[in-house]
Amino acid sequence: MEKFIINGGKKINGCISVSGAKNAILPILASTLLIKERCVIKNVPKLSDVYTMVDLLKYYGADVEFSDELIIDCSKIENKPPSEKVKEIRASFLIVGALLGRFKSVSMFMPGGCNIGQRPIDLHLKGFNLLGAKSQLESGIIDISTQYLSSGDIYLDFPSVGATENIILASVFAKGVTTIRNCAIEPEIVDMVNFLNKAGAKIKGVGSDTIIIEGVEELKGVEHSVIADRIEAGTFMIATASAGGFLKVENIIPEHIKSIILKLREMEVEIEEGEDFVIVKSSGKTINKDIKTMPYPGFPTDMQAQFSALMAKGCGTGVINETVFENRFMHIGELNKMGANISVEGKVAIIKGVEKLDGAIVKATDLRAGAALIISALSAQGQTEIENIFYIDRGYDCIEKKLSSVGCDIRRVNI
Ligand code: EPZ
Repeated sequence: MEKFIINGGKKINGCISVSGAKNAILPILASTLLIKERCVIKNVPKLSDVYTMVDLLKYYGADVEFSDELIIDCSKIENKPPSEKVKEIRASFLIVGALLGRFKSVSMFMPGGCNIGQRPIDLHLKGFNLLGAKSQLESGIIDISTQYLSSGDIYLDFPSVGATENIILASVFAKGVTTIRNCAIEPEIVDMVNFLNKAGAKIKGVGSDTIIIEGVEELKGVEHSVIADRIEAGTFMIATASAGGFLKVENIIPEHIKSIILKLREMEVEIEEGEDFVIVKSSGKTINKDIKTMPYPGFPTDMQAQFSALMAKGCGTGVINETVFENRFMHIGELNKMGANISVEGKVAIIKGVEKLDGAIVKATDLRAGAALIISALSAQGQTEIENIFYIDRGYDCIEKKLSSVGCDIRRVNI
């Protein structure tokens, strides 16, 4: 096991280049199951979730080389009984849509819930059913199959990211024209669809709330570079707002982080926007404002924990309304161990900013909660130890190296 040791109080000063987006590479890796030729994917972040997904694809027979680029060939994959590996990450459920699209049947463990919520799959199954597939659940394993996939007109009761991605994957080869209404419009879905369309899929409307998929016969191998991780970019921006200093965040798409930029400006953080970078300047003192998480382009739920760490020592009181997941405040208890004054009532956190936070021994409870603890530790007085940092490695590529390069005192130690 490993932990981070952080000595707070250092100002940030420098430049960080952001890695490729975790939530884009995972559905893109699932998409390669539909392609019987070699694909070359660039700007792939070295995250434990990516290695887990690669291992899962290898289980089904994919050939994968992952060094600077990720080269994958799914020409020889076979349909197989479910692997226990799918239980390690929720995103592995995305291979269900792809295997259904390729083999017209798939058997998979029901994806577990996780700390942040139940994570149901009813919308995924509704989409598969409307494409003609029948699903049956027995002893924790779900079997989904059909003679052939026919087009469907599918309405999502909630713009679920995973359900949108899974139904697209299942319908790429479906006969006719499939429509998905009230779908999610996250940039990572757009990146996955751009990858599929390069390979010969016929998908229109991505980035809007209605996606139209015209079935094709097969896809070709492609080269693709993954978009920048907007959540990683936002995390470093908030770290700077909280610790104080100057940070240039490079290789990003500012359009994807508009809600973060504008919310930070409301909190009186100075932000300059460039074509593929932002510059953050902060005294380390911010003004607390209210936040409500929403599907994209609303304020991202994946930034909620990080903002609560910033607000913990902001001026005044702010309220966070977490509308997307039902249990995404586990980090609050850990922040309060550091002297924060935050109370939680259901899906609402009330944050009364305090003058300073104190270092403590805390535990990451999920990926973004771990990032929040790093942010609070960087600005706290004294030393903080963060345990369970395997959560953080799921979604951040060498976060301690990037932060150390801009003046932070953070190191990874074995325990
Ligand atoms: C994706 O998860 C992301 N993960 C999450 O990022 C992100 O928080 C989430 O989208 C929302 O933006 C990946 O892309 C790998 P959802 P996903 O389906 O697809 C309900 C991170 O930190 N719902 O949009 O699982 C569900 O209960 C991770 O990087 C149903 O009710 O999210 C939740 O309340 C965490 N029925 C809401 O939708 C369904 O069938 C959003 O879930 C599916 C979802």
